[in-house]
Amino acid sequence: MARGGAALAWLAALNLCGAAALRGAPAALTRHASALRGRAVVAATAPANAGAEAGDDPRVYEVSIGRRTGIDIGCDLSLRWPYVFALVPGGAAELNGQIAVGDQLLGVGRTSVVGATVAETTDLIASAGGDEVLLTLFRGSRAELQREVGFAAGPSTVTIRVVQQGLPDVVFTAKAGCNLRDELVARKINVYRSFTRWTNCSGKQLCGSCIVDVTAGLDACSRRSIDESSTLRENPPSYRLSCITQVHGDITVAVQTPVGAAQWTR
Ligand code: FES
Repeated sequence: MARGGAALAWLAALNLCGAAALRGAPAALTRHASALRGRAVVAATAPANAGAEAGDDPRVYEVSIGRRTGIDIGCDLSLRWPYVFALVPGGAAELNGQIAVGDQLLGVGRTSVVGATVAETTDLIASAGGDEVLLTLFRGSRAELQREVGFAAGPSTVTIRVVQQGLPDVVFTAKAGCNLRDELVARKINVYRSFTRWTNCSGKQLCGSCIVDVTAGLDACSRRSIDESSTLRENPPSYRLSCITQVHGDITVAVQTPVGAAQWTR
């Protein structure tokens, strides 16, 4: 089995077709559909007999599973990689038994998703024809994959615009990956709606009261956790608990926006 250089070449090719292209609309992804075609992949440390072709890197494998994959996809925006965040119990991926939580997603069909957001990746899966979708995955550490493809990290700073009712917008820059609540509180911007300004849990994700609305750039924020989604279930998807939201790109955030009626029961 060939290793090293061949693996690097394969992964580098993914990067060339993926990272830059996938910043755009999902339609742009399809222009790169040929990039993965014919590239050899294999399963070794990855699931044996995973439907993989003969190839040159034991960490890369292919799996064909039902289009309703049962894969909860995450994306670490600091490195810009979609990965298997969780497997839905009883879903296609779990029943298939070959895909593991933490595997990095490289391709959907024959389109690279290196550098794609969660939304772009799920759009690709949803738009795949047929009953099954072909996934190409990498089983190894994220740092390892990043090193293989020489993938550049995102911007070092981000611009955050804060919209407050009755007040002028506040615009500031912060370090990429910053904690949204920390940045707002440091600038004396109140994210709370009542006395919780003084009684909140100080960012421990316990009180559920540090809610903001990310009105632009939501994809540039860390993904909602299951607990966060549960806490915010009465509110739109753009609502976030600011204390557990990391910002990796430019965003606009509104504070003091109305919240769902059941929010305060938690
Ligand atoms: S400050 Fe309590 S959940 Fe964010």
